[in-house]
Amino acid sequence: MLSKKQARAFFLGGTVVTFLIFIGLTVYSLGEAQDQTNIENMTESVVRGKVIWEQNNCMGCHTLLGEGGYYAPELTKVYDRKGANYIKTVVMSKTPWAPNGRQMVDYAMSEDEANDVVEFFKWIGEIDLNGFETVVSPLAETDNELE
Ligand code: HEC
Repeated sequence: MLSKKQARAFFLGGTVVTFLIFIGLTVYSLGEAQDQTNIENMTESVVRGKVIWEQNNCMGCHTLLGEGGYYAPELTKVYDRKGANYIKTVVMSKTPWAPNGRQMVDYAMSEDEANDVVEFFKWIGEIDLNGFETVVSPLAETDNELE
C-alpha cells in the first residue's frame, strides 16, 4: 500500500508527466512539418470550386473525405480516377448524368464553373491523407461502385 504522501507524489508526478507529454504532442502536431492541408496549392479557382460545391449541395449525394451522402460515388480521388474531361462532362451535362441508373442533377455548368470544380477536385485529391483514402473510399478505387 502507498502511504498518503506517496500517493500524493504519485498523483502529482503522473499529472505533470502526462501534461508535458500532451503539450509536446500538441506542439509536434501543429508544427509545419506535420502540415497535411495542402494549403500551399490552394488557388482562387480552387476556392470558387469549393463555393460551387457548397452552394449546389453536392454533399447531399456525394462524399468528400468520407463525409456526405452515400447515394453517389465518393469523390475525394475522382480527379485521379476519371480526369478533368470526364468531370467537366458530368457537371456541364444538360441532361441528368446517370450511366448506372442513379441520377445526378443536370447542373449544365459553364466551362469556367466546370474548370473551377475540376481544380477543387484536383486540390482535394492532393491532400496527404496518410493512407486514410483506403478507408474513406475503398469503393472509389474501382469504376464499379454502383454495380
Ligand atoms: C441528386 C444527387 C446528386 C447531387 C446533388 C450531385 N450528384 Fe454528382 N453524381 C450523382 C450520381 C448518382 C452520380 C453517378 C452516376 C452514375 O455513375 O451512374 C454522380 C456522378 C458524379 C461524378 C462522376 C463520378 C464518377 O466516379 O463517375 C462527378 C464528378 C460528380 N457527380 C460531381 C458532382 C458535383 C460537383 C456536384 C455538385 C455541383 C454533384 N455531383 C451533385 C448524384 C448527384
